[in-house]
Order: sequence, then structure tokens, then C-alpha cells
Amino acid sequence: MPKVTSKKCITGINWAASILTSVFFLLLICTSVSAQVPADYFKQNCASCHTIGGGRLTGPDLKNVSERQSRDWLVNWTLDPEGILKSGDPYAVKLQKEARGAVMTRSPGMTRVLSAALLDLIDAESKLEKSQFAGTQISDRPLLAEDIEEGRMLFMGATRLKNNGPSCIGCHTVNSMKGLGGGRLGLNLTRAYARLEGRKGLSAWLVSPPSLMMNPIFKKYPIDEEEVLPLVAFLKNETEIDEPENKTAMINFLLYGMGGAVVLLVIFDLLWNKRFRGVRQPMVKESYHS
Ligand code: HEC
Ligand code: HEC
Repeated sequence: MPKVTSKKCITGINWAASILTSVFFLLLICTSVSAQVPADYFKQNCASCHTIGGGRLTGPDLKNVSERQSRDWLVNWTLDPEGILKSGDPYAVKLQKEARGAVMTRSPGMTRVLSAALLDLIDAESKLEKSQFAGTQISDRPLLAEDIEEGRMLFMGATRLKNNGPSCIGCHTVNSMKGLGGGRLGLNLTRAYARLEGRKGLSAWLVSPPSLMMNPIFKKYPIDEEEVLPLVAFLKNETEIDEPENKTAMINFLLYGMGGAVVLLVIFDLLWNKRFRGVRQPMVKESYHS
């Protein structure tokens, strides 16, 4: 009799223990997810324009933003920045003037809950001595001819990117590039340095590109911090020499493109014919014999 009770008792304890551990792990997962999601989201969708305590990029430094505006206003702002600007809200208009006309757009998947979580994150990070979003500390040293050259090699793919990301030339071109130029999927980057407002803005952009096409790729294979400065140097130089657009490269590109299309058509045609005959001939033969 007592044996049975003790056995029951042990199973009871085991049972309670396993529930406790599950609860513990669930809590652990929940807390780490809730702490991680906004931070990842901020890094991928906000950090290219905002630091927390690292000064202005395209957008204002968000340190202590909750002391400048109410929580309600800030949540509504992240949900529909363009709408609030259009409504003529004086605070938003002032911000935009300070941003020299740059406009914030609604980030993908933004909701009230996510916005509140991001603002909690910004508040918490504002209290730290140095936030993880103080911005990458890209060196202020003068850019040398070697940096430009190193950047050019990285851009052209002559040097592989450290983390195996695809080289820029696959999707981008710059005006100084002769021959075919680079890819046309992305923008012509001749004026990117000017457009993204210099070293700080362009660096932040490259560390976590907010581009719909680049983000998923470079999130996995990030541009290394040591590669950012040479790429910035290269693109700064492109903006400064500001060569006119290389029309021959564009025409060459189109001609090669058309040539390629014709070759492909011919190949397809040959293959198709062969396949067609391949199917038809035996059928014809068969009908002959029967
Ligand atoms: C393309 C650049 C860009 C991105 C990306 C961006 N913002 Fe902004 N943000 C701005 C600019 C510029 C302003 C100033 C108002 C304006 O000109 O639209 C601003 C203003 C703000 C403000 C008000 C700042 C103040 O001083 O009162 C908050 C808060 C804010 N952004 C949060 C975010 C959050 C959160 C994200 C990510 C979900 C984000 N922003 C993504 C450019 C950006
Ligand atoms: C798979 C194609 C692809 C690759 C590879 C790629 N980009 Fe891009 N990039 C794009 C596209 C497309 C855009 C246009 C913006 C968008 O998608 O919203 C862009 C935009 C940019 C911009 C912003 C330009 C502007 O003025 O707003 C910069 C800067 C940039 N890329 C730099 C680079 C650099 C440097 C590399 C190499 C390390 C690179 N990109 C590799 C596709 C690519």
C-alpha cells in the first residue's frame, strides 16, 4: 500500500516539475521574443535613417523622443507619417524642415502594437549610456586614394565581399564605368553619396540597407563594417567626379541584351523543333507501319 502512494507521489512531482519547466521555457521564449522582435525590426527598418543617441542621419536622433511628443502622437506618426504631414501638423512640418525635406514613409507591417513596442525600445535604449543603435562608428579619418581603389574593387566584384554578399555591379552601375557598365536592376549610384547625405547617411544605409531588394540578401550576408568605408569612398568619388552618363554603355547594354535575346530565341527554336520532330517522327513512322 505505502509503495503505491510513494509511486503516485513521485509521478505527481515529475508531472508538476515538467509543467514548471515548460512554463519556464515558455516565459523565456516569450520574453526573449518580445525583447528581440522590436530590436530586429528597428535595425532593419528604422536604423538606416535614425540613431538613438548617435546624432541625426536622414531623420532626427530618436534619443528621448518621448520627452518631445506624446505617446499617442508618436504611435500615430509611425502608422501614417505622410498623412500627418499632409494634414499640416505643425510639429511634423517643423521636423520635415529640419530634415531638409526628407520624408518618412510607413514601414512595412507597422501596427499599433508594434509601434508601441518600438517606442518602449527607444525609451529603454535612450536611458543607456550607449545604445546599440548609436550608429556604426564609421571612422572620420580622411578618405585616401587607396580607400577609393579598395571600394572600386569591392564594387566591381574583383575583391569578394567578406561575408559572401553579391557584388554591387550585379545590380548597379556608375557613370565612370566603361564597356557594358553594371547591372540595371538597382539604381545608377553615381549620385548616391549626395542623395544619402554623405558619409554618415550612406554608411548607415549600407550597414542595413532598407531597400526591398537588398535587405533580405544583405541581412543574411551583411556588408562588413570594414568594407563600408571603402565603398563610401568609392561612391563619394563618383559623386565628386560626376561624369556624365555613359550613353554608349547603355546602348551597348541594350544591344547585347537584344543580341542575347535573338540568340536565345534561335536556341529555343532549334530545341523546340528537335523536340517536336522527336515526338512527331516516331508517331509518323508508327502510323506508316500500321
Ligand atoms: C527613409 C528614412 C526613414 C526611415 C526608414 C524611418 N524614418 Fe522616422 N523619420 C524620418 C524623417 C526624415 C523624420 C522627420 C519628419 C519627416 O521629415 O518626415 C522622421 C521622424 C520620426 C519620428 C519623430 C522624431 C521626433 O524628433 O519627434 C519618429 C518617432 C520616427 N521617425 C520613428 C521611426 C521609426 C520607429 C522608424 C522605423 C519603423 C522610422 N522612423 C523609419 C525618416 C525615416
Ligand atoms: C540583387 C541586386 C542588388 C545588389 C547585389 C546590390 N543592390 Fe543596391 N540596390 C538594389 C536596388 C533594386 C535598389 C533600389 C532601391 C530599392 O530597392 O528600394 C538599391 C539601392 C541601393 C542604394 C540606394 C541608392 C539611393 O540613392 O537611394 C545604395 C547606396 C546601394 N543600393 C548600394 C549598393 C552597394 C554598395 C552594393 C554592393 C555591396 C549593392 N547596392 C548591391 C539592388 C541591389
